[in-house]
Amino acid sequence: MRFVRELTSWSSGTADPEQFPYPAVVAEFHRVGKHFVEKELLALLDQVRARVDARTTPGRQLSTFLDVALDKWDARYDYRSYLALPLLPLPTGSPTRSTDAEPAEPTAARRERDRLLVDLVSDALAFELAAAADLTDLLPEQRPGPTVVAKRCRLGVRVGLAALTRLGLAGAVTDRDPVGAAVALHRLAVADRDPTRDRVLRLSMLPVYVSHDEYLFIRVLQAYECLFAGVAEELRATITALATGRPRPAAARLAYARDLISDAGPLFSLLATMQPTAFRTFREYTEGASAIQSRSYKLMESLCRAPEPDRLDSTAYRSVPEVRDLVRGGQPSIDQEYRAAVRDGRLRDTDHDLVRQAMAAFAEAVVTWRRTHHRLAIRMLGPRSGTGYTEGTPYLAAVRAVPVFTAVSADPRPPRTDPIGGCPE
Ligand code: HEM
Repeated sequence: MRFVRELTSWSSGTADPEQFPYPAVVAEFHRVGKHFVEKELLALLDQVRARVDARTTPGRQLSTFLDVALDKWDARYDYRSYLALPLLPLPTGSPTRSTDAEPAEPTAARRERDRLLVDLVSDALAFELAAAADLTDLLPEQRPGPTVVAKRCRLGVRVGLAALTRLGLAGAVTDRDPVGAAVALHRLAVADRDPTRDRVLRLSMLPVYVSHDEYLFIRVLQAYECLFAGVAEELRATITALATGRPRPAAARLAYARDLISDAGPLFSLLATMQPTAFRTFREYTEGASAIQSRSYKLMESLCRAPEPDRLDSTAYRSVPEVRDLVRGGQPSIDQEYRAAVRDGRLRDTDHDLVRQAMAAFAEAVVTWRRTHHRLAIRMLGPRSGTGYTEGTPYLAAVRAVPVFTAVSADPRPPRTDPIGGCPE
């Protein structure tokens, strides 16, 4: 077997982490799905891991990759390892103190996130197109038909275009045909991609099974992680600006965060094209990995407002102990800084209106996200329980109502009732 041959040859040679036979290992995981890789092969990888020197950059990457690949073997499989989040260049999310200086220039961080978003989405579309053209035998089960592929291209391109617009590259993809536009988006993404980013993309796709739609599922979740991490960064900057008497930058950072969430709306529509039967097939093997373990989502939530004690003590926050610790350690929030600024007379007149409106608009975007998520979960999951050990959609129905802020409520618009992705539920 190629896997064993290449691994043995690498181990008995220089065992240079840079030369690790990643393609052979990933190919074996892809052939059967992570859940079904033979124990003997995992044992070999485990032996390699024990000898990796993680003090160098290539060694660290190999060690991280092996931790992701061996999560089921180690019995510590979860949402982060399923999505290979430790391999992705996401913002680190260091804790905030309200007195911290605002990061000097958000542009570089924003650009990095948008490039990653374009990489993830365009890669998902490239896989759709390669499979439709019979150019790959990766994840061969339950392939979608051409109409669904075209719809995926259309929706994926919309998300990509929003990021390209922020990057100042909107004019680079002009094709009106969804497939042509997806090809153009992918060409643009790979044009200046360095080998490190390319490798990260390859290593961060380890589906548990061999069903086609799991590729889309993983990339959409990774894309959301990228967005939530970005939103959390913007919220931290909002807190700092409020605490240091700069209401206009505070409102601007919050408005930017709102746009990030709203512009990514088509991601849910994209995921809604997933075939429920395919989803139910591969989720048999994702038990224990749930987005309830998403740190960036709970960071986003808790930076808006400290959660109530009962929520902090529930599965919602027990599933993200690092964030729970931050909250218990007194992490500041927008709600708290806003109240303090109003109380101390530091927020007045138009500045006050500006911040309050930005808060209301941001809250509305989050509430819309929750509603859409709930509808999508109903469609895909029905009455089944969640992989994060909640009762499933009843949990989501309940958390929809958790206030984003207490000081300001969401825009009082009527709830959206349009079906996800424009197709009947
Ligand atoms: C097929 C699509 C999806 C289904 C069926 C689904 C289902 C669920 C369920 C049942 C839960 C409750 C926790 C559990 O027991 O697992 C949950 C939580 C959650 N999901 Fe999803 N989900 C889907 C897509 C997504 C996507 C694309 C995201 C984006 C990251 C996401 C983010 C979250 C978050 C952040 C939570 C935790 C919410 C909270 O604790 O307040 N989900 N999901």
